[in-house]
Amino acid sequence: MTLLLAAAEVERAAALLRAGELVAFPTETVYGLGADARNGRAVAAVFEAKGRPHFNPLICHFAEAEAAFAEALPDDRARALAERFWPGPLTLVLPRRPACRVDLLAGAGLDTLAVRVPAHPLALALLRAADVPVAGPSANRSGQVSPTTAQHVLDGLSGRIAAVLDGGPCTVGVESTVLDLAAGGAALLRPGGVPVEAIEAVIGPVARPIPVSAAAATRTLRSPGMMLSHYAPVLPVRLEATEVAAEEALLAFGEPLPGAGAIWQLSAARDLREAAARLFAGLRWLDAEGARLGLARIAVMPVPQAGLGAAINDRLERAAAPRE
Ligand code: TXA
Ligand code: MG
Repeated sequence: MTLLLAAAEVERAAALLRAGELVAFPTETVYGLGADARNGRAVAAVFEAKGRPHFNPLICHFAEAEAAFAEALPDDRARALAERFWPGPLTLVLPRRPACRVDLLAGAGLDTLAVRVPAHPLALALLRAADVPVAGPSANRSGQVSPTTAQHVLDGLSGRIAAVLDGGPCTVGVESTVLDLAAGGAALLRPGGVPVEAIEAVIGPVARPIPVSAAAATRTLRSPGMMLSHYAPVLPVRLEATEVAAEEALLAFGEPLPGAGAIWQLSAARDLREAAARLFAGLRWLDAEGARLGLARIAVMPVPQAGLGAAINDRLERAAAPRE
């Protein structure tokens, strides 16, 4: 049985975490599947509950930058970015400190650690109350669409985790930007809630490696989260739609194309923030509605690539990629 906890029950959620249980919690990006990152058994249970490959490392969440930097070693760029964007949707990949308490399995055995301070008040309250580093991948079964409500978490993980702390719908709606600073340069491992242009305004040019297949990611291990097929709805996804058939469900951005069998509007005003916040709920809804109506696939209208559009298009390309 998975408990649905209200905001007032944050202490109870923290006690469960400290006892080694899995507790999903809201962040400004998506819901995370929390576990005490020091506890190898709890971390192993996260991989188990998600059905996640063990080569794909987890992000550790902290209530303050100093707590994060006690486990992972920042340079001046990391400090400047933390100052500017934390709490917020930015994850920094840094060298593990020798005394790092985070279980090696959480970092998939890498000598780096991904750390972030989330901006959601309930996440911060939970992290403060638990007072441990909290490993937190998105709270969905591996490969499926990330959850932006407590109900989405229950849809995928009910019975597999102890509790979900309900903080309402997530306001950003796409995951954090993952930036690798550990190897000396700066590389974008995942576009996300902080546009890369905003990061470059603080630290200068950021490399943008191209996504690789799961097979190649397994071989290189540099960036396991960049595997192509991810965020996958059940229905096939067709991108850059400029016309739509009656047998298709439409993910609209701006004035909807005429003739679709079902429509989810990302943003009528073509606002990228609104579109990001509504993206994963839309994929889930079109999937369910499409199945109910017997539709063939989801067609997606073009979304501009600038700013948050890069994160939205990244998730859509993965949703449309051949399933591996
Ligand atoms: O917004 C978010 O980041 C959400 C919320 C819950 O914080 N979390 C999230 O976690 O999206 P997850 O596990 O679904 O994605 C973590 C990403 C993966 O792509 C993973 O490969 C990458 O971060 N990652 C984690 N640790 C890493 C490391 N040491 N080196 C390189 N990439 C790493
Ligand atoms: Mg995820």
